[in-house]
Amino acid sequence: MTHSNTTPETNKTSEPLTWHDGDMPYSTAFGDHFYCQTDGRLECGHVFHAGNGLPDRWQSAEPFTIGELGFGTGLNACETWRRWKEHHQPGGHLHFISFELYPMQANEIDRALSRWPEIDAERKALVAQWPQAPSGIVTVALDAQTTLSVVCGDAFTNLSASPHSFDAWFLDGFAPSKNSDMWSAELMQVVFDHTVPGGSFATYAAAGFVRRNLIAAGYALERRPGFAGKREMLCGIRSA
Ligand SMILES: C[S@@+](CC[C@H](N)C(=O)[O-])C[C@H]1O[C@@H](n2cnc3c(N)ncnc32)[C@H](O)[C@@H]1O
Repeated sequence: MTHSNTTPETNKTSEPLTWHDGDMPYSTAFGDHFYCQTDGRLECGHVFHAGNGLPDRWQSAEPFTIGELGFGTGLNACETWRRWKEHHQPGGHLHFISFELYPMQANEIDRALSRWPEIDAERKALVAQWPQAPSGIVTVALDAQTTLSVVCGDAFTNLSASPHSFDAWFLDGFAPSKNSDMWSAELMQVVFDHTVPGGSFATYAAAGFVRRNLIAAGYALERRPGFAGKREMLCGIRSA
């Protein structure tokens, strides 16, 4: 694990949390859960993987970069790493870069992710390398083919200054009604501008203003059935 010398916009202190049902974190700052209460790991596969055409798009050995708005517990990162290990080509490299205002503590990540035995190995590896006071850009070499970077601070400020281009986006702020900054027209434009031509996004959200902001940014949008009975989710492509 390394901390970069470049100093992104600084993060706030730790995420203000309470716990529901023992291991379900709930943000008291935003008044929302971090993932659906049915099964956040399966939701990740339905929304973020399938919505971005993964794992099919990992069939070449080209480097692949995923951007995420909202690292939270690292559930999406761990589940993506687990599936990447099953599907990637020899020589491929995945960089998972996530933007997070309130990085959690290692013991909080551990508590939340212990719910899923399927990602035991990934949780333990992440927690073992997670810094005590995450700040700046936390970079963790998960294995020889997989790097995780968590950019601590406000997503709009830090993504605006990011040198990276992204093949796929996981848009995972809290509910649009509770965390409108994570779905603003300005942020959706910066997300689009940092997407490679042919790149994609997916989100569980389907609110009208989110859909309009993504269309205005330039994405060709598709609505699909959401996870666990949710009527809709959104995904889309940057065609040029
Ligand atoms: C729904 S949770 C993300 C869940 C996460 N993807 C996971 O796998 O656990 C939303 C996250 O967005 C973060 N967030 C809210 N506003 C933000 C902002 N302006 N910039 C960066 N992160 C923000 C919250 O702190 C929270 O961790």
